Amino acid sequence: MPEEKLCVPTLLTCTAPVNIAVIKYWGKRNEDLILPINSSLSVTLHQNQLKTTTTVASCKHFKEDRIWLNGKEVDINHPRLQSCLREIRRLARKRHSDEENNSEKLNLSQKVHICSVNNFPTAAGLASSAAGYACLVYALAKLYGVQGELSKVARQGSGSACRSMYGGFVQWIMGNRSDGKDSIAEELHPETHWPQLRILILVVSSERKPVGSSAGMQTSVKTSPLLKYRAESVVPQRMKEMVDAIGQRNFEKFAELTMKDSNQFHATCGDTYPPIFYLNDVSKRIMNMVHRYNSHYGNIKAAYTFDAGPNAVIFTLDEDVGEFIELVKEHFPPETNGELFLKGLPVSKVTLSEEL
Ligand code: DP6
Repeated sequence: MPEEKLCVPTLLTCTAPVNIAVIKYWGKRNEDLILPINSSLSVTLHQNQLKTTTTVASCKHFKEDRIWLNGKEVDINHPRLQSCLREIRRLARKRHSDEENNSEKLNLSQKVHICSVNNFPTAAGLASSAAGYACLVYALAKLYGVQGELSKVARQGSGSACRSMYGGFVQWIMGNRSDGKDSIAEELHPETHWPQLRILILVVSSERKPVGSSAGMQTSVKTSPLLKYRAESVVPQRMKEMVDAIGQRNFEKFAELTMKDSNQFHATCGDTYPPIFYLNDVSKRIMNMVHRYNSHYGNIKAAYTFDAGPNAVIFTLDEDVGEFIELVKEHFPPETNGELFLKGLPVSKVTLSEEL
């Protein structure tokens, strides 16, 4: 390589966690700005379990922006990637012109190389795009010295990504404005609010989902009367109840609302035309197992939720985790069902790493 082409790139690495919605986002009122038809609420997972790690590099000799996902180069011209890059660079230009004497000016015309890796199956309904875009936006913001409210930028990559910008319990307020300026995520409570709450991931399948979330929700918006009813008449009240349940650390209420919302989300998928099926037989067996477990005790000790895929996320309290894991092992012994396993450390506190 000729000497003038060598450069020491400015490098930055960040990690971002997956978030699991307990009140689901499904449906956009504006496809370009990614504005949702209802508010949603999620719990952020500990990054030891599921996370994305992204490194961004900038160098004056890079000829073009490029991106690698899990080791494979993908198209940088994807409109959502472009939206995030454009918006971060716009904010950076604004900041640099506001601070005339900024000594650490990064040349904004420099191209970036981005490398992003998930430690869990990508696009298998485990919120990979949420962690991915949250991480990308955060890393680029750090690189360009952009501060402030970044959930609006992450939202433009993937709606649910705005919730991965925070830890603990996070709500994405749908907002009313047509420019989307009030459609932001905010932390309701930090992870320390409910230390007894535990999350288990039951990986049923690591295959890619048959219908991606963006395409799926677009068809649902066009064809499902149930989705319209859900957004207008169910979610507003359910959001309030969920905020109260979490505020009071009322596990039974939290668990009931979580399961009902997951069920209604999948019902809207079934009401979509043509219908979309994300759950498989193993998912349904898990749901039955949870209900039988709860009715055995006569109160709710575990809850399931499923995103756009067959993998289950289970919520329990600390005191019940051991028993629940035994129950899973009994129902799904590894020798009879090779596909189902507990992913990594099965239980973790709900925390967000210092890095993000
Ligand atoms: C079922 O955020 O992946 O996980 O905004 O089109 O990128 P886009 O969709 P995405 O949808 C997530 C849907 C969900 C529910 C949720 O996380 O709230």
